[in-house]
Amino acid sequence: MSIKSNNSYKLENILIIGNGGRENALAWAIQKNQLIKRIYLLPGNAGSNKINKSERIILNLSNIKELIKKLNYLNIDLVVIGPEIPLAQGLGDVLRENNFNVFGPGADGAKLESSKSWAKEFMKSANIPTANFWKVKSFEEAKKIILNSPNPLVVKADGLASGKGVFIPESKEASLKATEEIFKGKFGNAGEIVVLEEKIEGPEVSVFALCDGKKYVLLPTAQDHKRLNENDKGPNTGGMGAYSPTPLITKNILKRITKEIIRPTIDTLLRKNIDYRGVLYFGLMITKSGPKVIEYNCRFGDPECQTIMPLMDNNFVNLLQKCALGNLVGNEYIKMTDKFSGCVIATSQGYPNSYQTGFPINIGDIDYENCQIFDSGTSFDSEGKLITDGGRVLSIVCQDKNFEIVFEKVYQNLKKISFEGIYYRRDIGHQVRIKTLNNRSN
Ligand code: AMP
Ligand code: GLY
Repeated sequence: MSIKSNNSYKLENILIIGNGGRENALAWAIQKNQLIKRIYLLPGNAGSNKINKSERIILNLSNIKELIKKLNYLNIDLVVIGPEIPLAQGLGDVLRENNFNVFGPGADGAKLESSKSWAKEFMKSANIPTANFWKVKSFEEAKKIILNSPNPLVVKADGLASGKGVFIPESKEASLKATEEIFKGKFGNAGEIVVLEEKIEGPEVSVFALCDGKKYVLLPTAQDHKRLNENDKGPNTGGMGAYSPTPLITKNILKRITKEIIRPTIDTLLRKNIDYRGVLYFGLMITKSGPKVIEYNCRFGDPECQTIMPLMDNNFVNLLQKCALGNLVGNEYIKMTDKFSGCVIATSQGYPNSYQTGFPINIGDIDYENCQIFDSGTSFDSEGKLITDGGRVLSIVCQDKNFEIVFEKVYQNLKKISFEGIYYRRDIGHQVRIKTLNNRSN
């Protein structure tokens, strides 16, 4: 879809849509720019108001008329859409039709995340390296493929399932069971189509490209920790911690990723007439035969965003605006600190399955020098006290000259934070913490 933008270069009032640690980290990075007067978070969370220049607004996103009225009243110059669901529902399109500058793709571009089969076919058509796959529409069809395959296949619900729709079975029986459950409606409409995939192996990395439809600028790379428990065990989560940049992506690997994955993705979007203005998140696996795409997301990763934002300079928001206006030069330079950044997520007991909320949060004497606490899932009780209000509760982030010090600081700060059932992984960044590596028995 071709995009008309209002071509206004004014950049004073920003609206960020979303309620997680990612959106608070974006607000924190954006407020550093002197041009910015006000940042509105819709709906934000209990941590939003403590960010300089920021305030929450509460509005029903599906009431478009009211939304447009409010954004006009607030003189919003740029809208940044955080989560995938409003992007997939076309909020970016509606806002652009109403003459707002928007950072975030339309529903067409968001399909890279909202339909795994569409994304796989997209990659196949462009020869972008990814695991072999089969798109299936019934259990019977899936059964034949699973039983004929030499190894157990990965099973994925096609649509959005909050990161819960992917199964990595150890046996063919488990692949069959996962497929049957999806077709029986475990994920509602999101499971009307199932994608079966060959299982591939290697470390995972996240690469983020800010795109204006034709050109792009890369952010520092990051490595997420998806599994719930230490030593990368347990169920997949939205992300338990991250660090940036990752030494796994050497200059040579990045060259390959650019040539084989990033450039062809953007060229193929263009060929399909999709004017993608937002962040393209490449979830990659570095396999023995080279980098392969595990998934695309149409938004910043969480907690990668909390990890990367403190490395950005004051001009970060200008890049978002350029993407929204479609006028990146492509050689923009992000002046980053030469620091390393790490983030650990404190979660509610039971996450990613069911968990209770409403527990008071105590935050002691935190060392805030080069450290941030971004609220992920918090609210206030009737007396105004901070309480837990989500599976992922707080993102604790620090930067320093090496990862050893970074994580030392993060974990020192975590010792001063408590709420009932607090859980966090103690080995985030184990890949880059030298002492930890030396101490490991394997
Ligand atoms: P996704 O939501 O598609 O990113 O999948 C969630 C996680 O499942 C990924 O981060 C990988 O750890 C794992 N995964 C997904 N697809 C595959 C695959 N084809 N082979 C091995 N692991 C996979
Ligand atoms: N941290 C992974 C994601 O945001 O999907």
